[in-house]
Amino acid sequence: MKILVATEKPFAKIAVEGIKEIVEKAGHQFALLEKYADVADFYAAVKDVDALIVRSDKVTAEVVDAAQQLKIVVRAGAGYDNLNLPACTAKGIVAMNTPGQNSNAVAELAIGMMVYMARNCFNSGTGAELKGKKLGIHAYGNVGKLVAHIAKGFGMKVYAFDPFVTADTMKAEGIIPVASVEELYSTCQYISLHIPANEQTKKSIGYNLLSKMPKEGTLINTARKEVINGEELVKIMEERPDLKYVTDVAPENGALLAEKFTTRFFATPKKMGAETAEANINAGLASANQIVDFFATGNTTYKVN
Ligand code: 3PG
Repeated sequence: MKILVATEKPFAKIAVEGIKEIVEKAGHQFALLEKYADVADFYAAVKDVDALIVRSDKVTAEVVDAAQQLKIVVRAGAGYDNLNLPACTAKGIVAMNTPGQNSNAVAELAIGMMVYMARNCFNSGTGAELKGKKLGIHAYGNVGKLVAHIAKGFGMKVYAFDPFVTADTMKAEGIIPVASVEELYSTCQYISLHIPANEQTKKSIGYNLLSKMPKEGTLINTARKEVINGEELVKIMEERPDLKYVTDVAPENGALLAEKFTTRFFATPKKMGAETAEANINAGLASANQIVDFFATGNTTYKVN
């Protein structure tokens, strides 16, 4: 089988070497397309492949159409909003992700961003400490759990909202469960977002929730830029000169936010939450192993369609 790694934002070299080794050891053919500038190059590269490994690369209906032999696509990472699942399903293509493999990298970035904002973007002037402050975890999944764990080391009081996790589970892990998303935002000075981007969540974080935040509220977004309502964010940040927003990666109206709120807004130029050698190795190798296993045994444990 021919297995293609197609990454506009490449994996670390060591991860690519690891993937190649797994693929070839299992008797498959390895192919690589990195830093492609034109999506046409992506279409051309998928033509004769049986399996595909991507990062945030958009696997659209066009890609699926071009990939006539494709049997499996693995998103090396957690969020699979970049995969057109109906298109994959219609063609009988198995779509998978690699949950948890890059979570620690994202969690560390979320904490780093929190410190950065508490210290006024490392400008001079008096900042604040995280110790004793309330942190709200919006969605207590793989990344949310790790952020909570690290934040407790800082002496933060950690709350969480997640309709899919029981209050007892949270309590057992030293987390204070709240009953609604509104309660989370009105209770916590710091909110760390860990929701996926889907039809229910896109643009769901806006004026109503952010206006509930306590004084000096800071929203940390290492999830997806699409979950924010950009216009409403500007509105509430204009009304509330104490609010801060830090995000991985820059939203559509990022230039406006940067111009208007110089010390209260920061965005990474490129999504970098999972941009560590460790995360690349974990997610990249897991993808390769899942594909090899799928071809050998039919294992579809991480199927998302
Ligand atoms: C994920 O969903 O796993 C992260 O957002 C990482 O995305 P990336 O592989 O494009 O860095």
